[in-house]
Amino acid sequence: MKLNWVILSTTLFSLAGCTHQASQSMFIERHPDTAQTAPTPITQATELSIQGAYLVTLLGCGTCHTDGALTGNANSKFLLAGSNTGIATSNPLKSAKPGIVFPPNLTPDPTTGLGNWSETDIVLMLRAGEDRHGIRQSAVMPWAAYAQLSDQDARAIAHYLKRLAPVQHQVPTRVREGQASDKPHVYFGVYQKP
Ligand code: HEC
Repeated sequence: MKLNWVILSTTLFSLAGCTHQASQSMFIERHPDTAQTAPTPITQATELSIQGAYLVTLLGCGTCHTDGALTGNANSKFLLAGSNTGIATSNPLKSAKPGIVFPPNLTPDPTTGLGNWSETDIVLMLRAGEDRHGIRQSAVMPWAAYAQLSDQDARAIAHYLKRLAPVQHQVPTRVREGQASDKPHVYFGVYQKP
């Protein structure tokens, strides 16, 4: 495969970032907080919730879904409660106005989080990338990498998330490619000249 620019490694969590203001030739390397320990649920620990917490830590959900984590400064008050830093969905060398998605709030807050999602909805999202309205989510959410999760593991993650303390935190609205935005974001991926 002919790679003209390798911006970053394909490793999922080897992210690098640049601020929106930076020109295309100025990319600043960022080291995300990869080892976010999953917060403790508010209900009594069960075998399933302990397994869920273990998997959420291991699979790095907090790296994206915790505010500040993508740029190496995770805010411990917002563990898994969504990120105000978005992730660009297009090639930084091609488009100065990339699409940007914001990892949403995974705590069970009814208005800003997963309060209205059933555990089955969460399992479907994790393994097939479909939200509860059947809409396919951006592949920035690594559902393809989670497609092989066993029923038991996927169910444990959903069970755990639904038992977290709800945190009210609305992430910014997604930005479409080509639309001007001053929302902070990072880039990651491997880019190839067409
Ligand atoms: C590489 C970053 C990244 C990682 C790691 C990640 N996610 Fe996501 N996730 C996202 C983004 C970005 C979205 C929003 C996608 C969109 O809007 O199309 C998302 C969406 C979701 C949603 C849908 C929520 C909603 O309100 O629409 C759920 C549920 C979710 N992720 C759970 C998880 C879980 C559980 C893990 C760990 C097993 C995880 N994610 C790991 C980036 C990530």
